[in-house]
Amino acid sequence: MKQKSVIISGTGSYVPEKIMTNDDMSKIVDTSDEWIFTRSGIKERRIAAPDQAVSDMALKAAQRALEAAELKPSDIDLVIVATVNPDMMFPSSACLLQSKLGIRNNIPCFDIEAACSGFVYEVEIATRMMQSGHYKNALVVGAEKLSNMINWEDRTTCVLFGDGAGAVVLTLVDEENVGVLDTVLGADGSESMILSIPAGGSAMPTSADTVAQNMHSIRMDGKEVFKRAVKIMQEKAFEVCDRCGVSPDKLSLLIPHQANARIIESVAKRLNLPPEKVFMNLHKYGNTSSASIPIALDEVVRTRGIKKGEYILFVAFGAGLTWGATLVKWH
Ligand code: ACO
Repeated sequence: MKQKSVIISGTGSYVPEKIMTNDDMSKIVDTSDEWIFTRSGIKERRIAAPDQAVSDMALKAAQRALEAAELKPSDIDLVIVATVNPDMMFPSSACLLQSKLGIRNNIPCFDIEAACSGFVYEVEIATRMMQSGHYKNALVVGAEKLSNMINWEDRTTCVLFGDGAGAVVLTLVDEENVGVLDTVLGADGSESMILSIPAGGSAMPTSADTVAQNMHSIRMDGKEVFKRAVKIMQEKAFEVCDRCGVSPDKLSLLIPHQANARIIESVAKRLNLPPEKVFMNLHKYGNTSSASIPIALDEVVRTRGIKKGEYILFVAFGAGLTWGATLVKWH
């Protein structure tokens, strides 16, 4: 039977106005622009306003994606938001976004949590739901306010993260073999404690003690995360290309999760991709977790542009541990 395709019909992004440079960071913790840039590739990041929630940033990114897709909110029949920092425990940020957009109420809206791999996870979920034939246009958003989840006294983590949102509109089309060609996903929960926020959930509910001990902020064994990210991102990049029968030398662009320039460079080297085929904007935004790939994709679309038939590869790795890669043939 003919399999309909799911294409990316619009992209949008939003980053908060406030810029925090590495020099600003060095006034808070014992660090330097030189250390941060050399180890991670980051120069600055954006910090959301205190009254700006994840759904507020998601709204701006979503409105831009809808405009690019030339669709109205009422055309959307599925909303998914990937985030590690929803507005509140419930309702979901997707429901809050639905309300802010004034989208009709007989459609599913839900959040997913797969940390930095959230965008590739939700693209897979949306694609498969749409291919069931029940949904025509999906709004798929990655939005994060990581500045809330950082221990601002821990120089090993606070220098790495930033805030922002990216969105795509996915549309079901009659053509075969265009758009999202395939996604590979994976996880290893046995390694979950190398990157976590221990408190605030049912295992360790919020208490005066958990707050005093700074248990509500990101804990990371950077070296261990680094090693696994390099290995798994390479493997998944090859795996999805192989499954689609597309050799990596046919790729026009790699748009990886923006965590660390050294991780990205080693993945690109393994794939034998020259620098002009590897997109990086982490020097401006740091690691924005699930928002990083859709923010980067939107920047590519609006600056370089993507031509019909070009192969674009997304690859991500994050807490969970989770990972995934998506191959797209631009429509
Ligand atoms: N400024 C100055 N010195 C620092 C800083 C800092 N901000 N942070 C650490 N140091 C010091 C350390 O204390 C250490 O000093 P020591 O040798 O005296 O003990 C030294 O610098 C080297 O530290 P390392 O941890 O060995 O540095 P490394 O080269 O491993 O780089 C980094 C650290 C950038 C965190 C790297 O390991 C990394 O990027 N890891 C991966 C992070 C990642 O990809 N996360 C993705 C997922 S995030 C998510 O899912 C939410």
